[in-house]
Amino acid sequence: MKKFDINVGVTELSYDELTPEELELVNAAREATHRAYAPYSHFYVGAAIRLDNGVIVPGSNQENAAFPSGTCAERSACYYAGARYPEARFKAIAVTARGADGNELDEPASPCGACRQALVEYEHLAGHDVPVYMAARNKIYKLDSVSALLPFTFTEF
Ligand code: THU
Repeated sequence: MKKFDINVGVTELSYDELTPEELELVNAAREATHRAYAPYSHFYVGAAIRLDNGVIVPGSNQENAAFPSGTCAERSACYYAGARYPEARFKAIAVTARGADGNELDEPASPCGACRQALVEYEHLAGHDVPVYMAARNKIYKLDSVSALLPFTFTEF
């Protein structure tokens, strides 16, 4: 028998430790929370994906009265990026959320399991690690890759 651990490296950053490029991406995700359509959960999620063509694609959660028909911010962003810029590859992803009181969260929002699976496929397409920034009111967690969020990723290729 052999036991082993899988470790996830997380870098905690303050806003003033972000590079201008990182801050731009995180701010795009923060702005996107204001475009969430979340009348049921009142949980306003924003995502932003930087592509290698220079474009930042934002996304927000879009809910529906038939609950499972809605989609998360991360998937609205990554599927729009794939649909609009099929040749572009992902460079970085940011996600954040505001709660029912409208305020940014104390702890960083992290993508749900389905979004991790969706995002990791675009990381594989990129052929390199895609960092993930998970932002809260006063701190940001940076992971070096999407796959760090999803050990034992299911993949067809
Ligand atoms: N949500 C996201 O947008 N991203 C996640 O990774 C987790 C959850 C949304 C879905 C739903 O609109 C609301 O947050 C509450 O679950």
